[in-house]
Amino acid sequence: MGGGYSGGGSGSNRTYGGYLGLHDLLSLQREDEGVSNDEMHFIVTHQTFELWFKQVIREVREIRDILATEHVPEAHVPKAVEHLGRVTEIFRLLANQWKVMETLTPQGFLAFRDGLGTASGFESYQMREMEIILGLETVGRTSDMDPLGHFRKLATRSEEDAAALARLESTLEEVTLVEALTTWLERTPIMGSFFGTDGDAETVESYVDAHLAAYAGIGEAACARMEAQGVDNLDAVKARFAASSQGANDFLKPDGQVNRARAGLLFIESYRELPLLAWPRVLVDAIVELEESMVLFRTHHARMVERIIGRRVGTGGSSGVDYLDATTKYRIFGDLWGVRTILLKPELRPTLSNGEIYGFAGTGSD
Ligand code: HEM
Repeated sequence: MGGGYSGGGSGSNRTYGGYLGLHDLLSLQREDEGVSNDEMHFIVTHQTFELWFKQVIREVREIRDILATEHVPEAHVPKAVEHLGRVTEIFRLLANQWKVMETLTPQGFLAFRDGLGTASGFESYQMREMEIILGLETVGRTSDMDPLGHFRKLATRSEEDAAALARLESTLEEVTLVEALTTWLERTPIMGSFFGTDGDAETVESYVDAHLAAYAGIGEAACARMEAQGVDNLDAVKARFAASSQGANDFLKPDGQVNRARAGLLFIESYRELPLLAWPRVLVDAIVELEESMVLFRTHHARMVERIIGRRVGTGGSSGVDYLDATTKYRIFGDLWGVRTILLKPELRPTLSNGEIYGFAGTGSD
């Protein structure tokens, strides 16, 4: 940014410091309270995370809005992918930022830790807003810590905390990214059949059944090979393959009915080379990449915490590292991860029909 570097103003009078609100921003690190360098570093690190969280929340709402429209225009999918890429890069940056935090020694932290009282990252309402808008469900969380319940208690303490709770509660009413994605996946044309058209349910079911039969066949072939080789624990292996076949069935046909969104996802992942599916698959990949970067961000936080406070109880009263490690198991986009388990190599996929609607002249399977 060119121009002057001092003073406020607007339009052509605007300055760097004025535009960025630097005078306010740089007065928020408690220097007037005489904090040590270590503590200022602790504050600056948290504040920068929170600034990035603010951006992530905006980006996720934007992506959600794109996918939540009833007919997502082709040209809008690349836009969603761009925003997803930005969020992923922010999480990668944040995952690395724990390294700066690690320059704080355990003793250096203990020197000011008591002053934090019960304040903890657990009370980061932007982290919660981010999780809610992405679609992390309360049931998916570890049972002994309830962030929303905690905010309900905090809300009685100050107007700011009440406003934070109100914001979270109104976010809970919004469509989440995972919901928008699921409705979008549900509309995927499968074997040339469009959602809601005559005969769609039958076409999709026969596609899913053919896929499941081929998947079960892999297990049967593997068991036959092992039997021929005389492996010792054949019964255990057979039970494992049977469970995995049942798992595939439960994934695609929960309660015996085809889940069309999962079938659409399976179709996108299985026929990745079809031109019409190119952007959908890039979008799915971008979401998996985003969730992976978030999981790594959580993992690096846990390792940083282990290095600085060992296995102490957290200032927020959780089991500390054990709690943080449990949060690395969260998967918001569980279907996108789950589908990977049941994919088939191209030769085993059900033969593609109506390939022409995907911009593909042939009707063969590869
Ligand atoms: C010396 C540095 C840090 C230590 C020792 C630490 C420790 C902890 C611990 C033990 C928890 C679990 C809750 C509790 O009982 O308090 C936690 C949660 C959390 N921390 Fe940190 N933390 C540190 C730095 C940071 C920074 C720089 C951020 C950036 C905003 C941050 C964000 C969070 C968040 C968002 C949670 C909630 C995680 C969840 O519930 O999913 N922490 N932290």
